[in-house]
Amino acid sequence: MGSTTSGRAASVVILAAGQGTRMRSKLPKVLHELCGRPLLGYVLDRALELRPERVIVVTGHGAQDVETWVRDAYPDAPIRFVLQAEQNGTGHAVQVAASELAETDGPVVVLYGDMPLLRRETLEALCTEAGVDGTAMTTATPERPRGFGRILRASGVFRAIVEERDASPEELRIREVNVGVYAFARADLVRLLPRLTSDNAQGEVYLTDLLGLLVEEGKVVALHELEDEREAIGINTLAHLAEARAAIQERILEEHLAAGVFIEDPATTYIDYGVEIGEGTRVLPCTVIRAGVKIGAGCEVGPFTHLRVGTVLEDGAEIGNFTETKKSRVGKGTKAKHLSYLGDAQIGAGTNIGAGTIFANYDGKDKHTTVVGERAFIGSGTVLIAPCRVGDGALTGGGAVVTRHTEIPPNEAWVGVPARSLTKRTASTTTTEGGASGPAKS
Ligand code: UD1
Ligand code: CA
Repeated sequence: MGSTTSGRAASVVILAAGQGTRMRSKLPKVLHELCGRPLLGYVLDRALELRPERVIVVTGHGAQDVETWVRDAYPDAPIRFVLQAEQNGTGHAVQVAASELAETDGPVVVLYGDMPLLRRETLEALCTEAGVDGTAMTTATPERPRGFGRILRASGVFRAIVEERDASPEELRIREVNVGVYAFARADLVRLLPRLTSDNAQGEVYLTDLLGLLVEEGKVVALHELEDEREAIGINTLAHLAEARAAIQERILEEHLAAGVFIEDPATTYIDYGVEIGEGTRVLPCTVIRAGVKIGAGCEVGPFTHLRVGTVLEDGAEIGNFTETKKSRVGKGTKAKHLSYLGDAQIGAGTNIGAGTIFANYDGKDKHTTVVGERAFIGSGTVLIAPCRVGDGALTGGGAVVTRHTEIPPNEAWVGVPARSLTKRTASTTTTEGGASGPAKS
């Protein structure tokens, strides 16, 4: 059972069928990402925190893509999908979902899929307000109530919602708005849904009319006002997406700071949703850390560093300026401090990756892995052409090119283009091109 006070688990309906025309993008609106996670992911997380009996996602535009993403991201959650083939409005979307509500008896929370900033506390408070058999909705009073439905009151008591496009000039001056988050008593919702009409400026079936119908029946609708009105941001345009990204980013950075991660300049630090960072790690300015990256304790990242998907830094690793990593594991205390690309690399502990080292992971068709052992010393400007392997304690000279399928044995020094073992060459008196033998310090 969730956090509603009814004693029965709630069901949650998430409306996600809209095309998002105003985004001017081919991607279904709810799959647009904020800090590395689709909008819908944030809303689903909030929904699942209520420990609902079930979550019903109403899909329409890009239904297949939306469903595929959700099934992948939440393989075990009690989520069902309902197709709203034609988007005739938010009320119509809930009408379509009603078949899935038939076997449930707890309250029904309705959320819009384009509201990623909604907080857990807000939803919990809303459910508490709704109580056992009541209805509650969320309001806000923003400076500019752009696009929102307005709250109409009579003698101070909630009466109805009027959509912006249907509002009179006088009603447009009302700043109290409908955020679009509701908790309904299931029986009331199911009874009144068929009574909604499309008799309005947009010719759509509005869910918002249902609240007015409840009042006409003599029911009370409780209003829950947001403390932080930024939670009300619904993403309709790419500008809203950017605005919401900044707000989510702030929350993510605050969480890491609270967990003992030293972030020197939050204003120039980009950390996606779902990044793990250990205590005492320092993140220096102008750094981008993408979703799913794992960073141990006591590491140093940045300035000007890009850690991409699949990067794992073990405790004490240091990745410095103009270094990019992708799908790479960097061992304990290993350093790559300058101007390098670490792609598909598995690097042991205590290794030094010299300035300008490139893990050449891509042969034009496929990606390959490079393995570097512990305590190795990769000289400046080394190119490691994957797949290849550098043994524990081995060394490459500055500018060495280690060609595909090469395996440098432990503790050997290899230099040159293509790289060859220094030991063997000295023994066999062959003259070398010279100059490339010493590892440059980095
Ligand atoms: C809605 C509210 C408005 C509120 C605002 C808050 C209605 C009629 N209006 O307006 O009062 O202030 O949200 O952001 O509800 N959707 C469907 N199927 C449809 C239509 C919409 O699934 O047929 C989905 C959309 O994908 C979106 C959500 O419902 O996620 C809200 O729809 P949208 O068109 O953005 O409503 P608003 O005009 O913002
Ligand atoms: Ca909207």
